[in-house]
Amino acid sequence: MEKQKILFVCLGNICRSPMAEYVFRHQTAQLGLSDRLTVASAGTSGWHNGENMHQGTLKKLKQQGIDPMGFTSSQVQTGDADTYDYIIAMDDNNLAELERLFGRQPDKIFKLTDLIPESGYTYVPDPWHTGNFDETFRLVSAGSQALLEKLTSVK
Ligand code: 4NP
Repeated sequence: MEKQKILFVCLGNICRSPMAEYVFRHQTAQLGLSDRLTVASAGTSGWHNGENMHQGTLKKLKQQGIDPMGFTSSQVQTGDADTYDYIIAMDDNNLAELERLFGRQPDKIFKLTDLIPESGYTYVPDPWHTGNFDETFRLVSAGSQALLEKLTSVK
């Protein structure tokens, strides 16, 4: 079976999308599905290219028993819509920028919160502004779990 490729996208690629990348990879590994799924993350801005993820994201991942090693921030690339099967935005600004770059492709490009309507959130709040990495982690975990179920039908 061909690997499914997933790209998580936020603005800076240091807070939310790296968290989603590492949480999703962790959940995938726990289910023994690592060989079926490829995961990465990127920012629409490129402002933090080459940097590690934010200290708050690092701390939260470690606290949850998720190894945060090996990350480097990068920007969305023009070929990403061809490379990836799913490109998952954290908020409406990310989504608008992705749709500007790649066109509207609702089956491929959508918001993580679209998968968790029961959460009551329509975007993943940015801890760069809120300082609340716990809230972001809760949403990212729930969204990542819902994505895994969507992709694998594992409940
Ligand atoms: P992220 O958070 O998009 O979740 O990585 C941000 C990180 C940095 C900035 C904004 C948001 N910034 O303005 O540099």
